This record gives sequence, structure tokens and C-alpha cells, in this order.
Amino acid sequence: MEVDKKEELASDSSDQTVNPWEVSAKEGGKIDYDKLIDQFGCQRLDDSLIDRVQRLTSRQPHVFLRRGVFFAHRDFNEVLDAYERGDKFYLYTGRGPSSEALHLGHLIPFMFTKYLQEAFKVPLVIQLTDDEKCMWKNLSVEESQRLARENAKDIIACGFDVTKTFIFSDFDYVGGAFYKNMVKVAKCVTLNKAMGIFGFSGEDHIGKLSFPPVQAVPSFPSSFPHLFPGKDKLRCLIPCAIDQDPYFRMTRDVAPRLGYSKPALIESSFFPALQGENGKMSASDPNSAIYVTDTAKEIKNKINRYAFSGGQDSIEKHREIGANLEVDIPVKYLSFFLEDDTELEHIKKEYGEGRMLTGEVKKRLTEVLTEMVERHRMARAAVTDEMVDAFMAVRPLPNMFE
Ligand code: TYM
Ligand code: TRP
Repeated sequence: MEVDKKEELASDSSDQTVNPWEVSAKEGGKIDYDKLIDQFGCQRLDDSLIDRVQRLTSRQPHVFLRRGVFFAHRDFNEVLDAYERGDKFYLYTGRGPSSEALHLGHLIPFMFTKYLQEAFKVPLVIQLTDDEKCMWKNLSVEESQRLARENAKDIIACGFDVTKTFIFSDFDYVGGAFYKNMVKVAKCVTLNKAMGIFGFSGEDHIGKLSFPPVQAVPSFPSSFPHLFPGKDKLRCLIPCAIDQDPYFRMTRDVAPRLGYSKPALIESSFFPALQGENGKMSASDPNSAIYVTDTAKEIKNKINRYAFSGGQDSIEKHREIGANLEVDIPVKYLSFFLEDDTELEHIKKEYGEGRMLTGEVKKRLTEVLTEMVERHRMARAAVTDEMVDAFMAVRPLPNMFE
């Protein structure tokens, strides 16, 4: 078992910064994910675990597993051990509703969570941290609540099963057993430790300091008495991008002191900005991101204008030495969203050896993303207010393990 490096600063390294608020590599560089695994003290998701997922679920592992998009974990092996013995688990993920529309990076954990829910037949809780975004983004309480509901529609459009899924907003749900767990967690974390893990300073308002327990406690089944009564030992598995790791380092550190199991995690790398792999696609820079609300024309323009190319400056040179696939964003994006393994390998070979040009790869990427965004748009248009209410109703889920 790994040791949680709980004292580690979330952003202590001089050449890259990864925390819930900032993701950046050193100038011109890429995020070094191996180094992050060391720095955070998580485990690499290796092929033997992926084979095991295939065996236990009797289906081909999701492309995000096959291609290493989800690359790190904490105790995922233990969750699989328990599952093999017949003990199920529940999934927990979330979204901080800071913008009207989600970008493609935000879809990654949700697409993957839907696959896990289907493959393992397990319940899921989704936290909308409207309180967090109200405190961090200077949004009003009402505006944050409105964004949470809008974002819930995009999340539902990913295809979750209403008989196995509970979506909640913090402003509506916090209280009762959930709040009792928050207070228990809060008592275990000193100010010094919070400053170490999250980088808070004396200038931050106390609302920020009070938030981490809110994101921590959905990891404990007793926070959901309508879902998991008498199931205090049920394990929790959290799919998220690795920027959320600090919250769950803290959670795992305090869990044993409260007599609770540590949540397990399965963590992804970042879907990069159009400009290149030194940062994540971020909602705060519209030109870095493709949104689920972009039109076909906007997608095409953004890809053609901004997607960083590893192709050579002149056709002659390109034909001679080929594209640098290591830095090429269109190829990177295709490796997330082009499902056909054979076609992806073909493009990499032809482009990497100079027979295919950047324009052709960008054209294929535009098709793939336009189709995906169009599918999402139609699914979202079909989500009614009644459906949002149904997912967000505090209710038991009697068939959640079937
Ligand atoms: P938020 O809204 O910033 O992001 C939602 C989820 O998307 C992931 N993510 C990305 N994944 C891949 N590539 C990107 N470019 C990218 N940008 C964001 C995030 O890691 C996250 O999984 N505080 C959280 C909400 C939350 C939560 C949770 C998330 C509450 N509880 C438990 C995960 C697990 C937030 O504001 O996420
Ligand atoms: N704190 C996250 C953010 O600002 C949102 C969040 C809340 C979250 N709970 C989560 C993300 C659980 C992943 C998993 O990005």
C-alpha cells in the first residue's frame, strides 16, 4: 500500500503546478505525469489492472483505459478485490458549476464514469459544488445555483441511469448526516495542514478554508442516509482528473481516524488546451477550449486557427521528416475521441512519416468532434426540467446494484 504524502504541497514544484485551481507546466513544456505520481504519492494504473477490469466486467475496457487517459489510481486494486468477492462499491464524482457550458475536458470524467456505472452496475453520486464556485469565482448564490442546474442537464445528457444516480447541489443538500460528517472532518484538519495541502494564505477569506470538508464527505456512505442505510462499509471509488487529488489526499488522511474507509480514486490526465500540452483545457480562456455549445463552424475555425501542429513549416520538409506527433494537438485529441484503434494507428503512421498533412488530420478531427458535440447537443435538448428534478430528488434507489 502506498503512503499518502499528506504533507506535500499541492503546487510545490518549481517547474509545474497542478492543483484544483491551476494546471501549468514550465514554459513550452508538458505536464510530467510520472513526476506527479511521485509527488502526490498515487499509483500507476498498469496493464495488469486494465486486464483485470476486462475480466471482471466481461467487456472491452473503455478507450480512456486502453490509451492511458486514466493513468493513476489509489487503491483501485482493493476495490476490484472486494468486487471479485461479491462486494460492490459506489461511484462519486462532481462538477464545480463555474460556467454556462462544459468544455470537452469536462466531459472526460463523466463519459468514463458512465462506462464504470454500466460495466460494474453500481450506484453513483454526483456533487455540484455551487457553494465552491460562489466562493471562488465571485458569483452570486443565485447565479451559482442556476449554473448548477444548467450543468446538471449536460451531465444527464452523458447518459446516466436515473435508477442508479443521485445528483445533488451543495446549497440544497448539505445538512443532516452530510453536515455531521463535514464537522467531523473539519475537526481533524489543522489550519497549517490546510495551508500545506491547498496553498491557502492569510489573505484568503474563511469561506475557502471551510470548503474542503464539503468535497470530502461524499466519499463516506453515511453522508447519504437515503441511499446507503446500514451500509457504512461500502467502498467509494472517485473518477476525476488528477487536479482534484489534493481534496482526496486530505479525505484519505482523515478517514481512518473517523472509522471510515478511505475512498479509492481513478485519475485522468488533462485534455490539453488547443495551444498545447503545457496546460489543461480551461473554461477561463475561451480560445483554449472547445465547448459542447460550439457550432460546427466554431469548431472548425478553432481547430484550424489554434490547434498546435507538429507538422513542418513547408510541405517539402514535412514530406521529408514528417510531423512531430509528441507535440501535435490534433493527434492528441484524436487519441481521446477517435474510437477506432486501427484508424488512429494509420493516421499516426502516415502523418508521422510525412505522407499525411496537418490539414488532413485537422479535417478528420473536425469531423470527429463535430459529430460528438452534435450528439451531445441533441441529448441535452431532450433533458427536461422534470428529468433534472428526478435525478436530484432525495430518494432511495432500490435497484441500484442490479
Ligand atoms: P470542475 O468542474 O472543475 O471539473 C469537473 C471534472 O472535470 C475534470 N476536468 C478535466 N478533465 C480532463 N481534462 C480537463 N481539461 C479537465 N478540466 C476539468 C475535473 O478534474 C473534474 O473531475 N470541485 C470540483 C467538483 C467536484 C468533484 C468532486 C470532482 C466535487 N466533488 C469529486 C471530482 C470528484 C470541480 O469544480 O470540478
Ligand atoms: N472541486 C472541483 C473543481 O473545482 C469540483 C468537484 C467537486 C469535483 N467534487 C468533485 C471534481 C469530485 C471531481 C470529483 O474542479
